[in-house]
Amino acid sequence: MTLDPALTQMLSAADLRLLAAAGGAAPSLHNSQPWRFVPTPDGRGLAVYADTDRSVPLADPAGAAVHIAVGAAVFNLRVAAGRLDREPLVRLLPDDAEPGLLAVLDLSRPAVAEAPFGRDLYPAIAARHSSREPFTQRDVPEAVIGELMAAAREEGVTLAALEEEGVRRVQELTADAERRNAADPARAAESRAWLRPDDGTAEDGIPRSALGPQDHDARVPMREFGGRPPEAPEQPPSQRFEALPQLCTLSTRGDGPPDWLRTGQALERVWLLATLHGVRLTVWHQAIEWPDTRWALRDPAAGPGHVQLVLRAGYGPPGAATPRRAVEETLGERPS
Ligand SMILES: Cc1cc2nc3c(=O)[nH]c(=O)nc-3n(C[C@H](O)[C@H](O)[C@H](O)COP(=O)(O)O)c2cc1C
Repeated sequence: MTLDPALTQMLSAADLRLLAAAGGAAPSLHNSQPWRFVPTPDGRGLAVYADTDRSVPLADPAGAAVHIAVGAAVFNLRVAAGRLDREPLVRLLPDDAEPGLLAVLDLSRPAVAEAPFGRDLYPAIAARHSSREPFTQRDVPEAVIGELMAAAREEGVTLAALEEEGVRRVQELTADAERRNAADPARAAESRAWLRPDDGTAEDGIPRSALGPQDHDARVPMREFGGRPPEAPEQPPSQRFEALPQLCTLSTRGDGPPDWLRTGQALERVWLLATLHGVRLTVWHQAIEWPDTRWALRDPAAGPGHVQLVLRAGYGPPGAATPRRAVEETLGERPS
């Protein structure tokens, strides 16, 4: 067998661990981490599967959030490939017969440019956290918002920064959806089941330390995660949030698996870039979870499109780190 000199070496065990750790650091609904990374038979790539045992069926009946999370993991894998001086060639949904195989990354080519893809973003993978804390009154500058819009556009997704009227509309829709989630015992139980204690034993879900306070003025509808369980009923004291949050939407033309995977990649690209700028983000998914509030999120002025996520942006505390599953669990066999 002759070796093609243009091909890179096979991925070492250390390379695979670095890739799986980067992919696994991605954000996911309730920190459910619905992914599995499987080395390709040639040893120079990675297949990414959805782990549907980790889906959140009431909040995400169609599996869009699973795809968004996996898309975000794929973006981190692209950035980590640059760290390994490899050029990531990504095929989304490569096999119609296998809908759980969401992406294959071919990493067999060396990085072409002097500065490989996403090299500057790599440190932000570990530094990025959801921040559910109050933000300061300082606006994210237009130039930074413009960079975030361009980052989303590179991934085929529209990031729209909302004006005051739009912010108020999206706040009301999110608050409405949040109230409905809280009043629905099954949904409240589903999200509460992902809350975790702060004792360092959890590998997934949301530790209490990562939950922020509720807004004292009840204007900024932070997710309550199904309320407090009976064994820990105490609420942290409410606090004053920013008077008018800065909100953005991520939208796509279509509303199927490829659009959701692109949204995830855009979300992570935007979030890593924001992290480098010191800008914090919170995801608001509540209004996406009810068909009527989701429909009403659309901005008629912005034309057709499906809103996939609402993002709150600002300056403030970085947010606490959430746990991740061990690489041994996420790397290896495809899910059965
Ligand atoms: C599709 C999706 C939906 C999410 N929805 C919410 C939400 O409604 N409220 C919230 O506070 N965080 C939300 N998050 C953030 C996750 O809770 C967070 O990514 C996860 O707990 C891991 O924490 P980290 O982002 O700090 O790494 C969402 C994330 C994703 C990808």
